[in-house]
Amino acid sequence: MSLMQKTVRTDVQATQAYVVAPAQGMVKLDAMENPQGMPAALQDALAEALKTVALNRYPEPKAAALEAALRAHSDIPKAAQVLFGNGSDELIDLIIRACCMPGDVVMSPVPTFVMYAVYSQWSHAQFVGVDLNPDFTLNMPALLKAMSTHQPKVVFLAYPNNPTGVALREAEIVQVVKAAPGLVVVDEAYEAFADASFMSRVLEFPNVLVLRTFSKLGLAGVRLGYAVASSAWAEQIDKVRPPYNVNVLTRTAVEFALTHFEAFEAQAAQLKANRETLREALQSLRNPQLVVEVFDSCANFLLFRLPNAWEVFEGLKKKGILIKYVGKAHPLLADCLRVTVSTDHENQQFLDALKQTLAELAQ
Ligand SMILES: Cc1ncc(COP(=O)(O)O)c(C=O)c1O
Repeated sequence: MSLMQKTVRTDVQATQAYVVAPAQGMVKLDAMENPQGMPAALQDALAEALKTVALNRYPEPKAAALEAALRAHSDIPKAAQVLFGNGSDELIDLIIRACCMPGDVVMSPVPTFVMYAVYSQWSHAQFVGVDLNPDFTLNMPALLKAMSTHQPKVVFLAYPNNPTGVALREAEIVQVVKAAPGLVVVDEAYEAFADASFMSRVLEFPNVLVLRTFSKLGLAGVRLGYAVASSAWAEQIDKVRPPYNVNVLTRTAVEFALTHFEAFEAQAAQLKANRETLREALQSLRNPQLVVEVFDSCANFLLFRLPNAWEVFEGLKKKGILIKYVGKAHPLLADCLRVTVSTDHENQQFLDALKQTLAELAQ
């Protein structure tokens, strides 16, 4: 046994690193990014804004200017506190670290965003997934029973959910919040596409935190997420936050984006409209020989099921189209693929390649 093997945690050694599929030169529809870049005029103005950033200084600890800009453009209740993270990924990690001792339970309906389970593991917390119904709606009796049995410290509700695209009903969130013995995190990563949010109710209950991100709006590379909660929760989670976790370039870029927020909102609205067109196009592939099931989505992606999903995924990849095969992620996702909604042009490229692949597989 090498020194490394004796030293590094055995569960770390047994784990694969998070795989990001190589995407050079591909039509990239695998990660829910906004395909529309920043308008050219804004790019120049952003470059001007970034010129003045003091790269030689550590970031100001509270990110006060960023918080003020955010509050001016969002529905965060005045009395709630905001915590920033290097993506909402980091905040998921911090929430679990702040709440869980080794062996404590983190719970979520599954299938869902994988990082809830990953960060639980790194905190030695036990992740308990509660299966959704086969149509990806919440199995409330099962979740209530599991909460009562396992007494989770944290329950994550992705609203809407990834990779299914389904949004809980608000009344279901309330029911979970009232029954939960600990914190309920309502993860609104896809809020811009959803017409639904729990933000206005975050202070109505003693145990709710709302998470959001700028990633899906068009700033995935900038890495900024935020958590909104009462000061009681925010102050505790803030203690495990690395002091300078959000760098000065990110802060300036997002402050800038917030002053031009209507451009990002317009792009999100366009993607929402494109989602419906793409959904109809996918549904119309259905014929007596080919059963295609397209799930309703409140996010900027669509989940669909068809026979030989892995071969379809591979066929698309050979034609330069990268989507996500999720068929092995959970039994309920058997033969499922997830595609990010993109521009008309890229959606058409995807549909053309899909039709060609299906024709090849039918031969
Ligand atoms: C439900 C959900 N939450 C959080 C994230 C993480 O987003 P980010 O770390 O880019 O803010 C994702 C990313 O796909 C997600 O799907």
